[in-house]
Amino acid sequence: MPLLEREPCLATLHTALAEARTGSGRVVFVSGEAGIGKTSLIEQFTRDQHGARVWWGACDLLFTPRPLGPLRDIALQMRGDWHTRLDAESDRAALFSAFLNELQLDATIVVIEDVHWADEATLDLLKFVSRRIQRTRALLIVTYRDDELGPRHPLRTVLGETGASTAIRRLLLAPLSEKAVRTLVGHRALEAAALHRQTGGNPFFVTEILAGEAGRVPETVRDAVLARATRLSPSARAVLDAAAVIGGRIEPWLLAEVTGAEAYAVDQCLHVGMLVAHANWLMFRHELARQMILEAIAPHQRVVLHRLVLDALKASPITRTDDARLAHHAEAVGDAEAVLLYAPAAARRAAAASAHREAANLYALARRFATELPADQHALLLEAYAVECDAIGQQADSIAARRTAIELWRSLDNRLKVGENLAHLMTPLNRVGQN
Ligand SMILES: Nc1ncnc2c1ncn2[C@@H]1O[C@H](COP(=O)(O)OP(=O)(O)OP(=O)(O)O)[C@@H](O)[C@H]1O
Ligand SMILES: [Mg+2]
Repeated sequence: MPLLEREPCLATLHTALAEARTGSGRVVFVSGEAGIGKTSLIEQFTRDQHGARVWWGACDLLFTPRPLGPLRDIALQMRGDWHTRLDAESDRAALFSAFLNELQLDATIVVIEDVHWADEATLDLLKFVSRRIQRTRALLIVTYRDDELGPRHPLRTVLGETGASTAIRRLLLAPLSEKAVRTLVGHRALEAAALHRQTGGNPFFVTEILAGEAGRVPETVRDAVLARATRLSPSARAVLDAAAVIGGRIEPWLLAEVTGAEAYAVDQCLHVGMLVAHANWLMFRHELARQMILEAIAPHQRVVLHRLVLDALKASPITRTDDARLAHHAEAVGDAEAVLLYAPAAARRAAAASAHREAANLYALARRFATELPADQHALLLEAYAVECDAIGQQADSIAARRTAIELWRSLDNRLKVGENLAHLMTPLNRVGQN
């Protein structure tokens, strides 16, 4: 089914690509609320781009984004040893330059999806590439949910800084009109005007409701999603629940490991359209649907699934170093020991990659479980947290963490450490004018 009412947007993308092909690269920011059709638009556009390479990367809704996650996705689609290079390269500027060089070689469409969830390193990459795009033969398409950008969201800075460039285009996707909703309703015995009102013309909501059982209009989109899931066999439903726990991107091997399910159960989820196959992984057709399925799982069952996922991730050589992901599942299980193992490790990795916001979030997560730690380790954790809070301007949190660290060192009679922390406390106190 072709997309409705997106011809002008597709035309903008085609023009931008034509310009990029001639050596005048372009960036198109595509925004709009969840389910408005950003991904669908880009999929339609990239489907018939003969000749241009298409590289696709996405930011994930994990507890913490993977540093440079989209570039990691893209590395898998590029020639050469980009993947190992990403892990080995400590010089961020050199890495970004090398990526930019790649974009000068051939006509390329680079898609970076859902940057409202981007880590700082990815935002830096966006800034770096956007400023220099004009020298490349690339069309960079960036999608984000505009309604998820609070006033202090760091993406705002990127959008502000790149705003004036003539190489930048913006597409804000509008809801579907009543006429389009009528087209989607087709011959069903449903009143298009009411459906349009009920859904605000959001295509995800409209299509979910239309995918519901014939003759019955679900009250809400949630009902529609859950009704679709109840049509699955028990083993397919188990697969779906496990998939929701695994997250935004589901590795088939992991799903098989966690559920022990036969391929047909996964096929059924694909067949009813709850899951879709994407390169080497599976995804929910929509993140909103994943959230709804996840919330519908009984809490104790959800914990069991998180535990299975955690154990499977730990056991696999591919994923056992993915500390941030392990920390996320460990938190869901309430496994303090595992959180205290993985979250600080992930935080250090994030900090080393200058992803200070993620580092602070990960230390904050570890902190919630830190009462289990000996006082000295607890204090060291707080110190590391304070450093990251300073880096992202969260002075109040930094001060509070330093003060608790000082109390802990005092209880251990470690005057050197007390003094060191008092000295550090001066910086944030000075900044907030409290000295
Ligand atoms: N123009 C359109 N006409 C008809 N159906 C559409 C249109 N755009 C999107 N859809 C339907 O709506 C669903 C949701 O769209 P899509 O996943 O592209 O939204 P999104 O903006 O990427 O959402 P998110 O922010 O959650 O990623 C699609 O699966 C598709 O079936
Ligand atoms: Mg999308």
